[in-house]
Amino acid sequence: MNNEIFSEVDHYISNLLAPEDKALSDTITTLVNEGLPQHSISANQGKFLQVLMITCNAKRVLELGTLGGYSTIWLARALPENGKVITIDVNAHHSDVARKNIDIAGLLHKVELRTGKALDILQELIANNEVPFDVIFIDADKPPYTEYFNYAVQLSRPGTLIICDNVIRDGKVLDKNSTDESVRGVQRLNEMLSKNKNVTATILQTVGVKDFDGMVIAVVNRV
Ligand code: DHB
Ligand code: MG
Repeated sequence: MNNEIFSEVDHYISNLLAPEDKALSDTITTLVNEGLPQHSISANQGKFLQVLMITCNAKRVLELGTLGGYSTIWLARALPENGKVITIDVNAHHSDVARKNIDIAGLLHKVELRTGKALDILQELIANNEVPFDVIFIDADKPPYTEYFNYAVQLSRPGTLIICDNVIRDGKVLDKNSTDESVRGVQRLNEMLSKNKNVTATILQTVGVKDFDGMVIAVVNRV
């Protein structure tokens, strides 16, 4: 077993069940042309998020980490016409690139782009008594993942699904002595979840066209 077969099988699955249209493949091209990191989710991960959204009849979605809008397009497409994704990115250039991509995909009416520090915007949303979200996808910078998650719980209701990307990081989470701030950030989240009584959580390992990694899948408990 090696990464090659995981990638080939990922393509096999996405060709069958998550084919990219031009709006999605052009979005990946804009990342290259605009100098954004190639950290978008894969097509199959986009489809996976859609399956989860439809399972819980999601109408309101919060995303941390817009990047070029690739995941935002998958999320917005699984919403009903009156649904909404609020997506946050600290980088104004990312937001600009994403806005264009989301517009070309014909989805701007379902997407609210917010530019700024997620920690600030999350506190604003809480202070403004934002209606709870049905699904929250955390895919931003890794060091504050625990804080992002705790704010996400405050923007939730029982049954809200909270998904966090990149919590295994090539297995580097096993290294207790890691000095990598991203690894330490996700280790801190994963350990916090082991003690958190407010959510029922697991971590799904992910392989395929992206590096070996994992996603937290957590549901907010009934009180
Ligand atoms: C990184 C961030 C991501 O969201 C991702 O999916 C992969 C890598 C990173 O910052 O290293
Ligand atoms: Mg990610």
